Amino acid sequence: MADPHFNAEDKARILEGVDQILDGMLSMGPNVRAFEEEFAAMVGTRHAIAMNACTSTLEAALQYYNVAGREVIVPAETFIATGMAVHLSGGIPVFAEVGDSLCLDLADVEARVTERTAGVIVVHMAGNIAPEIQAFREMCDARGIFLIEDAAHSPGARIGDRQAGSFGHAGCFSFFSTKVLAAGEGGMLTTDDDAIATFARSFQHRGRDMTAKTEQYLMPGRNVRMTEMAALVGRTQLARLHEYLDRRRMVAAVYARDLAGQNGIRLVMPASLENSSFWKVPLLLDPEIDRVAVTEYMMGQGVAVDWAYQPALHLQPVFRAIGGYSEGTLPRTEALLSRHLCLPCHPRISEDDAIYVAQTLVEAVRTAARTSA
Ligand SMILES: Cc1ncc(COP(=O)(O)O)c(C=O)c1O
Repeated sequence: MADPHFNAEDKARILEGVDQILDGMLSMGPNVRAFEEEFAAMVGTRHAIAMNACTSTLEAALQYYNVAGREVIVPAETFIATGMAVHLSGGIPVFAEVGDSLCLDLADVEARVTERTAGVIVVHMAGNIAPEIQAFREMCDARGIFLIEDAAHSPGARIGDRQAGSFGHAGCFSFFSTKVLAAGEGGMLTTDDDAIATFARSFQHRGRDMTAKTEQYLMPGRNVRMTEMAALVGRTQLARLHEYLDRRRMVAAVYARDLAGQNGIRLVMPASLENSSFWKVPLLLDPEIDRVAVTEYMMGQGVAVDWAYQPALHLQPVFRAIGGYSEGTLPRTEALLSRHLCLPCHPRISEDDAIYVAQTLVEAVRTAARTSA
């Protein structure tokens, strides 16, 4: 469910900001610039470039690396946009297995790297930073290929003092309505690399040379800029990020406490709460448990669970057609996704709500086990 959580103070700030926008600049104005600066400061990268969607930021990074005709390794467990950005940039998505963390598996990726590989996109699934992210960067640097972080789910997640979006050559964030930071639509590319940043600025403006005084276009492109309105909403949300993360982490901690040792249920949790922004809290059911029955029970009790994401990307009709994929190609990922379920997590879930969700799940699993016995 889209639940952006604007309190009265935020609404007042936004309405005042809208007033200023209507009297000032509707696009390419101070809010976009400030949002970029504030986001770069949060992630700890030298640059942040705002766009209309995360998909555009992925395309900008991929096209900087000129992936046309080359392979890009992508996890099979992600939203369609990750694979689509590769295809629409002329690259060939090569889907790889995820591990029990539901994030890309390093050993499986290494086995798929060939001389045709341009790079790897790691997705921080459900907000959990991929546990092997640092080793991914070392592997990519050693092989001379790029690493892009699809951090759509994970603003504010960190390992030590390194934030999601600062491990790869580029990080890509989404501000779609259901995300941890919701601006309606929007995306942000983060990078420490000046050349990527220059390319992304040009990409944002139809391929324009942003250093030239007159309009000079260096490459084919389109307008993928963020609007001032979206930046205003995004800035308001960013100012609350730590508060939101505290609440999401509280909800996840209740799930972890109340579901520890419960038969048939294994939460997919990071090593430490700060390693995740807890967009959702995924879990794996034991294989004999009927996931449809558990899901229907939970929905019947008013708990909105979902199966983000299924089918795996290689089994989506578009990639079956493009890549000739079929069932059994990625057996580990397919088996994991047949058992997974996501619990809701957002700042408006109270401690009591979280306790209720955990209790309902335990009942759902018991009921499903009784029915199948
Ligand atoms: C993992 C992932 N990557 C990319 C995207 C694309 O984001 P956007 O809709 O902002 O283009 C999303 C979500 O929408 C996502 O969940």
